Amino acid sequence: MAADAPYTPHERSELGLTADRSPRHVAFIMDGNGRWAVSRGEPRIEGHREGAKTARMVIEESARLELEQVTLFCLSSENWKRPADELQMLLRLLEEYLIRERDEVVRRNLRFSMIGRREGLPEGVLRELDATADAAKGNTGTYLCLAINYGSRGEIVDAARRLASDVAASRIIADEIDETAFAARLDTAGMPDPDLVIRTAGEMRVSNFLLWQISYAELHVSPKCWPEFGRDDYFAALREFGARDRRFGGIKS
Ligand code: IPE
Ligand code: MG
Repeated sequence: MAADAPYTPHERSELGLTADRSPRHVAFIMDGNGRWAVSRGEPRIEGHREGAKTARMVIEESARLELEQVTLFCLSSENWKRPADELQMLLRLLEEYLIRERDEVVRRNLRFSMIGRREGLPEGVLRELDATADAAKGNTGTYLCLAINYGSRGEIVDAARRLASDVAASRIIADEIDETAFAARLDTAGMPDPDLVIRTAGEMRVSNFLLWQISYAELHVSPKCWPEFGRDDYFAALREFGARDRRFGGIKS
């Protein structure tokens, strides 16, 4: 069997990861690329380059664990505040990454999509996103979702605007608006909510990421910067998730 084939039940239990305590959807706030590079006396972009390897690892391991979905926060709608040269290199890196990893998406049978606003993204990034989505069409495995030029408040405002125009066009009446109707107009319509959010570099905040969708998610913060976050760290987070008692506002059964 290939070294990167899905984990068998035996391998899972050796890793301490039983399927019934596994999250369906893990979302990552990848942070600390810049700090990692600077601490080594390298330019920040080297951190982003190295961080791409961690992204590959978590995608690969999520697929091997047969998770339903993995979401990566690649670029926030607030990241435009960064210096132009870092942004340009970051977007270039993203474009290269999409090209380089396309075969992997196909080989691993990953479903693929992006969330966030397309407006403002360079032509090249949009083209490669579309090409990967196209190549992944018909795939049935783990869903890889990239949040790019994404901000949760903006997404919620967009959903409110869609609802308002649907009311104006009599497609729905105001009294029918409920959580399901609202969620169906978010970028994440049809996706399961994340059960686990993993953030690196020790920051204790959610930074405008999936605010609606993470209402009941468990949070795991790693002190490690994203480029040094390894497979063992990911598995430790999954084991910790498995040990938590999730009550969703109820009481222990
Ligand atoms: C995360 O690393 C990567 C992106 C937001 C694209 P940072 O670039 O935020 O690294 P720090 O936080 O400055 O160390
Ligand atoms: Mg940061």
